[in-house]
Amino acid sequence: MELESKRLRLKEVTWDDIESIHMLYSLPEVDEFNTLGIPKSIEETIENIRPMIEDINSENRKSYFWKIIRKDSGEFIGSAGLTLSANRFKLGEIFYELLPSQWGQGFATETARTIIRAGFDHFHLHKVEAGVATQNARSIRVLEKSGMTREGLRRKILPIRGEWKDNYHYAIVEDDPVDY
Ligand SMILES: CC(C)(COP(=O)(O)OP(=O)(O)OC[C@H]1O[C@@H](n2cnc3c(N)ncnc32)[C@H](O)[C@@H]1OP(=O)(O)O)[C@@H](O)C(=O)NCCC(=O)NCCS
Repeated sequence: MELESKRLRLKEVTWDDIESIHMLYSLPEVDEFNTLGIPKSIEETIENIRPMIEDINSENRKSYFWKIIRKDSGEFIGSAGLTLSANRFKLGEIFYELLPSQWGQGFATETARTIIRAGFDHFHLHKVEAGVATQNARSIRVLEKSGMTREGLRRKILPIRGEWKDNYHYAIVEDDPVDY
């Protein structure tokens, strides 16, 4: 499934993209609020993303994982995903991570908005959610610019470099107003 926005194209990640994904996940700036930690080898990255890639062929698919491509240059600039709940809840959870050289140009917000819109229009979800470390100010801004509301704080649930960090829960419901 391919998604598109004004400046970006989101194409599903395949095994051909493993080196780009490994390079992205290996950057300390990208890992700062990630619970996976920097992969020790490309094999670790392969195992981390295997469930998402193998889910492509499943009947009741729950995982979507895209690479983010700039339309103007064709460059790989990051990855993003949507994980669906059991069908009856009609929930989806988004995530994204971009190369630091691309930060600050609105690309993450454009990505989040595109996946949220697909969540409602294509997947017919009732609610789209995201979790974010309370110290991840950039990502909090992205979620709020995407129309999400902070619904709660979950204390000390994120294992990040040997410490338990707090997490904000953000979400948008299908009939919430958005200004984009
Ligand atoms: C979070 C991340 C995706 C943001 O990407 P991005 O393309 O720079 O995001 P955008 O440009 O769409 O928006 C960033 C916003 O944060 C703001 N911002 C930047 N640095 C900030 C800071 N230190 N404190 C608060 N806000 C900050 C920007 O000004 C911008 O808001 P604005 O449009 O109102 O000016 C990127 O930093 C990243 O990949 N981080 C590592 C992975 C990660 O944390 N993923 C999210 C996990 S929940």
